[in-house]
Amino acid sequence: MRRQEASGRPRLRVFGIRAKLISVLLALTIALGLVSILQLQATLPRTLREELDKRALSIARNVALRVTDPLLTANPLEVREILADVQATNPDVRYAFVLDSRGRLVAHTFAGGFPRDLLTQRPAAPDRTEDVQWLLSEEGVIHDATALIVDGLAGHVRVGLSEAHLMAMLRDMRRRQMLTLALACVLAVLLGYLGIWKVTVRVPQLVRAAQAVGRGDLTVRVRPGPADEFGHLAEAFNQMVRDLARTRALVVRKEAARKALLQKVLTAQEEERARISRELHDEVGQALTGLIVGLRVLEEGDAERQSQVTYLRDLAAGTLESVRRLSRDLRPAVLDDIGLVAAIRRYAGDFARYHGIEGTVQVVGDESVRLPPVVETTLYRITQEALTNVARHSQARHFGIVLDLRGPDVRLVIEDDGRGFDPGAPREGTGLTGISERLALVSGRMTIESSPESGTTLFIAVPREKEDESDAHLDRR
Ligand SMILES: Nc1ncnc2c1ncn2[C@@H]1O[C@H](COP(=O)(O)OP(=O)(O)O)[C@@H](O)[C@H]1O
Ligand SMILES: [Mg+2]
Repeated sequence: MRRQEASGRPRLRVFGIRAKLISVLLALTIALGLVSILQLQATLPRTLREELDKRALSIARNVALRVTDPLLTANPLEVREILADVQATNPDVRYAFVLDSRGRLVAHTFAGGFPRDLLTQRPAAPDRTEDVQWLLSEEGVIHDATALIVDGLAGHVRVGLSEAHLMAMLRDMRRRQMLTLALACVLAVLLGYLGIWKVTVRVPQLVRAAQAVGRGDLTVRVRPGPADEFGHLAEAFNQMVRDLARTRALVVRKEAARKALLQKVLTAQEEERARISRELHDEVGQALTGLIVGLRVLEEGDAERQSQVTYLRDLAAGTLESVRRLSRDLRPAVLDDIGLVAAIRRYAGDFARYHGIEGTVQVVGDESVRLPPVVETTLYRITQEALTNVARHSQARHFGIVLDLRGPDVRLVIEDDGRGFDPGAPREGTGLTGISERLALVSGRMTIESSPESGTTLFIAVPREKEDESDAHLDRR
């Protein structure tokens, strides 16, 4: 289904180009054909009519020559025979008749009587010239030619040729031309499609390659083919993809280097914190404990000294408490010893007590499960940063932590009922950015939901197993 969609649209678009080019070709063919047909139809009838005039005159002259003898020997029968013969051998001849020098009808070819209006329509050559005139009849234009017999001394001949045959020929010719035009159109479409197909056949390939690059596949190349414009386009495309691949490889390398550096920094930080934490707990803590025990011994004595020693003992006890908290904040021993759940519980409890904010910690799933050290450290540090923000910015009265250890992703939700903020706005602080950076190292994700009415909620998800083994050295001490 998806593949169909992907390849369906561009094919349509290529077809669009082909259809357009073929339409242009077709329009050109039709225009050319019509122009030549119209031109022929405009000039041909005139030429053919002139030819018909000449033929009429030459037939009339021929008849005049042939009837001279019978006419002079007063043989009207033979004249009629000649006229009939002329009509029989020339299908265009509609009629022929002979008048003598005084304009009297000698013979004619009309079977049903001579139509007198032929003489009134055209008076008998008074000026004794030979010419052709066009007469209108029921069957169209008649080319009526007059030829003189013995220079008109013996009379004259008139022959009428019909145009009907000529017109039929013209009509037939026009039909043929139209048919030829239709054939030319079909040919134009076929040849045009073939030619254009040859030119545009590489377009779909280019489109598919561009789509593949769009999807992130930088291994695609298009075959350059012949060195025409498409060939150049293909080459430019391949070069672009090669450059893109090179740039992407560079970015990936740099990102890997940045991550490695960040990991080193974080590891070093964790190690340093752990060292200071141990130092505080073991050295300073031990010293303070010793001090308190010693002071307790010194408490016996007079009242003034007693109150002084008690004050010093309380001071030492307070300092011991601070040192222990500091030590825990830096790197709680429980995180390494008994795990994330206990560490978060301990930290949230201390936090609630110290800041006077009510809080709950809810753990779903097997609490005793141990995650990779880097994942545990990440989630612990995120909890610390999120709760620090609650104390510093939210003015909340409650906070809640949910840790879900069931799925392939460990999910951590930290919410408060404070005043919220705009997570989309540009930030100056480094806390949330630090969380994102830490998450990126373990392929985790964070979503922030926040509004003045419902406070702030951080949704964190981290894959239970670290995907990239090379990163696993982080925090393994
Ligand atoms: N729980 C919260 N409630 C209200 N505002 C918060 C909360 N968490 C973060 N913010 C807002 O987001 C900003 C950025 O937080 P952060 O990146 O941790 O930087 P910093 O804490 O150093 O200011 C804070 O300045 C604050 O305005
Ligand atoms: Mg912060």
